[in-house]
Amino acid sequence: MSVANAIESRRSCHLFDPEQALDDAVIARLATLASRAPSAYNCQNWRFIAVRSASGKAALAAAAYGQRKVSDAAVTFIICGTLPPQHGLAAALQPAVLRGDVSAALAASWVSQASDTFHDQPQLQREEAIRSASLAAMTLLLAAEGEGLASCPLSGFDAAAVRQAFALPPEQLPVLLVSIGHAASGNAPQKPRKALSELLQLA
Ligand SMILES: Cc1cc2nc3c(=O)[nH]c(=O)nc-3n(C[C@H](O)[C@H](O)[C@H](O)COP(=O)(O)O)c2cc1C
Repeated sequence: MSVANAIESRRSCHLFDPEQALDDAVIARLATLASRAPSAYNCQNWRFIAVRSASGKAALAAAAYGQRKVSDAAVTFIICGTLPPQHGLAAALQPAVLRGDVSAALAASWVSQASDTFHDQPQLQREEAIRSASLAAMTLLLAAEGEGLASCPLSGFDAAAVRQAFALPPEQLPVLLVSIGHAASGNAPQKPRKALSELLQLA
């Protein structure tokens, strides 16, 4: 499947087959693909919690206002952005330094720039967490499509309830849920989009 095909065929699935689970190896592959998303300085300021147990799904569905897809999908990922984004950046850059893609001096300068940008800037930290987690979530949606799986992003959840149910530490901000599994019958196709003339400006 080409990337264009995946983008065009993906739809927000509202009816999942509750009988079809996913192996943890598939869940790990999806998370690995999601982790290929880009992030500022390659901060990788995200965490993915894959909720696939019956008790976990029940707790998450309750925090998502009873949205049925959270109970029925094989897995729902809680996509968290982490704060502050520069935390752990030096270690995150180390593999690129060791491979010779980024010089040690450049990596050090990125750590310094990121620290200068985000230190004592909770609003900027939060914005970056949402940016990174959103890109990871979109990558996860396309990864699911590429694996022949159905998916749906959800922002309809009570963040405080999710935090409490999954004991999220303060530095993990739940940004989006992404339900993934096998589609049941009866799902509508992707919804039509606005005309390009309404959204594209050539400058
Ligand atoms: C940020 C975001 C939040 C969303 N939250 C929900 C949600 O809580 N429940 C739901 O059923 N769908 C949710 N959706 C799915 C949208 O309704 C869907 O993407 C949109 O209607 C377009 O449909 P399509 O993806 O099938 O083209 C969300 C999508 C996004 C991007």
